[in-house]
Amino acid sequence: MTDFPDALVLKLCFAPGLWEHSVNTFLLCRAALDALRVPDGPARKEILLAALCHDLGKAEWPEPLFSLPRHAIPEADWTLMKAHPLTGADLLKEIWPEAPERALEIIRRHHERPGGAGYPRGLEDPGLPALLVAACDVCAAMLEDRPYRPKLTLEAALAEAARFAPEAVARAVGEAAGKVLGFPKGGIERAQPAG
Ligand SMILES: [Fe+2]
Ligand SMILES: [Fe+2]
Repeated sequence: MTDFPDALVLKLCFAPGLWEHSVNTFLLCRAALDALRVPDGPARKEILLAALCHDLGKAEWPEPLFSLPRHAIPEADWTLMKAHPLTGADLLKEIWPEAPERALEIIRRHHERPGGAGYPRGLEDPGLPALLVAACDVCAAMLEDRPYRPKLTLEAALAEAARFAPEAVARAVGEAAGKVLGFPKGGIERAQPAG
C-alpha cells in the first residue's frame, strides 16, 4: 500500500465524532485480529484500512444528522444514511485510487448482516472480514457517548455484536475489548439454546 493520503484524515476529522469512532473501530479491530492470530500481510492491512474508513461516507452528511437517534432521522435522509457504505467506498477510491478493492468491498459490506438482514444490498453472506469490521463497529459505537444517548455497557455492546457475528469473531472482539478499552477479558457469553 502507498502512503495514506492527508485528505482522508481531514475528511474523517471534520465530521462530528467521526475521527474518534473511526479510530476506536480500528483499534478494536487490530486487537481482534491479534486475538484471531491473523498475521501481518495484505489481508490484515485491508481489513484495518476498512475499519478505519468504514464510515467515510458519513463525512458528506449534513451535520444535524449526527445528533439524531435512528428513530428521529427524517424519511428523506434515510436514503442518504443507508447509502453511506457505498458512498464511503466511492469516496475512498476517489481520494486514494490505489486503495485495495478488497478494502473497498469490506466498507460496502459493513452494515450487511447474515441472511440478508442488513443494508444497502441485503447480501446473504457478507463474509468474515466484513462481519469482523461490523462487530468492531457496533461495539465501538455502543461504547461511545452520542449527543442523543450516553455510552452503553460493554456487556450490551458485545451482546449486540454476538447477534450477527460468527462465534469466533464475537469471542475475539470480546477479548480485544478487554485489552483495548481496558475492560475485563472474558469474551462474549452466548445464551445456550433452550432444551
Ligand atoms: Fe456505518
Ligand atoms: Fe461506524
